[in-house]
Amino acid sequence: MYRTHTCGALNIKNLKESVTLSGWIQTIRDKGFMIYIDLRDRYGITQLILDETRTPKELMEKARKLGREFVVQVKGEVIERESKNPKNPTGEIEILVSDITTLNTSQTPPFTIEDKTDGGEELRMKYRYLDIRRNPVKNNLIFRSKVAQIIRNYLSSEEFIEVETPYLIKSTPEGARDFVVPSRMNEKQFYALPQSPQTFKQLLMVGGLDKYFQIVKCFRDEDLRADRQPEFTQVDCEMSFVEQEDILNVFENLTKHILKEIKGIEIDTFPRITYDYAMKTYGNDKPDIRFGMKFHELNELMKGEGFPVFDNAELVVGINVENSANYTRKQIDALTNFVKTPQVGASGLVYIKYNEDSSIKSSVDKFYSPEKLKQVCDEFNANPGDLILILCGETNKVRTQLSMLRMELAEQLNLRNPKEFAPLWVVDFPLLEWDEETKRYHAMHHPFTAPKPEDISLLTDKPEQVRANAYDLVLNGNEIGGGSVRIYDKDIQAQMFDLLGFSKEEAENQFGFLMNAFKYGAPPHAGIAFGFDRLVSILGGQETIRDFIAFPKNNSGRDVMIDAPAYISEEQLEELNIKLK
Ligand code: AMO
Repeated sequence: MYRTHTCGALNIKNLKESVTLSGWIQTIRDKGFMIYIDLRDRYGITQLILDETRTPKELMEKARKLGREFVVQVKGEVIERESKNPKNPTGEIEILVSDITTLNTSQTPPFTIEDKTDGGEELRMKYRYLDIRRNPVKNNLIFRSKVAQIIRNYLSSEEFIEVETPYLIKSTPEGARDFVVPSRMNEKQFYALPQSPQTFKQLLMVGGLDKYFQIVKCFRDEDLRADRQPEFTQVDCEMSFVEQEDILNVFENLTKHILKEIKGIEIDTFPRITYDYAMKTYGNDKPDIRFGMKFHELNELMKGEGFPVFDNAELVVGINVENSANYTRKQIDALTNFVKTPQVGASGLVYIKYNEDSSIKSSVDKFYSPEKLKQVCDEFNANPGDLILILCGETNKVRTQLSMLRMELAEQLNLRNPKEFAPLWVVDFPLLEWDEETKRYHAMHHPFTAPKPEDISLLTDKPEQVRANAYDLVLNGNEIGGGSVRIYDKDIQAQMFDLLGFSKEEAENQFGFLMNAFKYGAPPHAGIAFGFDRLVSILGGQETIRDFIAFPKNNSGRDVMIDAPAYISEEQLEELNIKLK
């Protein structure tokens, strides 16, 4: 038996017990006549003590030969500590060691295995198994497991059936590039790894399963960011005989249940806003509504007053930063520099300071009368002490730029409180978006998304105006889920493929299986997928999903621990009939 207790289990109630513990040596403090060792396992840390008066000399010598991260088994007696540590659950006791067995030695680890480590990100990724020994990473993985359990239990209790769908499939166009896998047995042919199980879950509805879910790996070859990994996990769901309203209700309830169970937070009905409103009011389709700074459009008030920059712009739009009129020249310059950075791309920033004494100072005093500027302040319902910031330009661009400024200010002003949770639904997404590069329409969500019935008549003449029965769940400024009502009529699906520029042959070749299935009685169906990594990281108060994935990839899509991707041998290439240039 390796242990009678774990390193997190013993306390004052266990005094005088003879125990056996196993774990890793976190630290050894040798005071000469006394040796303290912190022994760590998943459950905690227990202090071991050896001292000249009570411990045989040979055992003291043996302990001195141990090193950090050695794996040891110790036997001893639980005794009361002289200086107690109330922060540690085992902090009132220590183990007076009577025997030590070295189960394994360890090289000196490349970074300290402590909550605050000296190891940089790349080094910790390379030795991820050591990083996982650290509380922050270990706790994130435990947290992830807990959230998965809650979701699985909830959906199972709602009669969803968990079904595994294949990983070796044919590509489904969902926006990103596919990862492909060559087939040895089918010369020159490739599988694609699924970007999502989209078509399979629809086929499961044709199969009559009615309610499906899966916590499933998805693969997308796209540029990586803090909230994106090439392989990530979805909570993928689909239901039959439902409308948009049913899906929103079921998954709002699931989200509420998770928030309650994990955070003890109860949230009322989630707000719902349309895509158009989100773009107009927040400049993006995943607004963080934990704070205000809503956009106000100022064309009417500020154009035609002789300020050429605004007069020539398509849209003049601003935000009110409350209680910030005391921003210094330097701070405003820094914000101006921020909006002028290439990643934001604005040409300048106009400010109106509504000072505490009700005077108004602005960077465009020359062009606008004090009365006009007061009218602008009133448009925002601004109070003395507020600061109004204004950008102008081409509508879509300036909205994105102002959205970035809004988020930057929220960071600076600490308005993004990770302990607060503000979910909302964004609905009525456009069905299609025009792609300038390829000069054709793309499905904004995916090609299986149903147009709103009232917009179907616009499909032929004004496709860009057609709205979809598509929705996103947004939490604290992150898109954590997206879904739609599906097309289940083979003719509308064919029309959709046509709109998306697929020839009949291409549609048949890529999606013949789905169109065929739709000939055999497809029920009305709809679904959603949550980005599980994102959900977990936001619930955990962070936005970097890597920290919640056991073995993540770095920003170049590499696993630096196993060193993948990697070259393969000539023999393997030959077997696959692949010739590299
Ligand atoms: P969608 O493409 O919106 O929908 O994906 C669903 C959710 O998955 C998360 N997500 C990601 N998370 C981490 N890394 C990535 N690279 C990544 N890409 C997406 C997001 C997103 O909201 N089949 C449809 C769902 C449906 O219609 O039912 C789909 O995949 O949180």
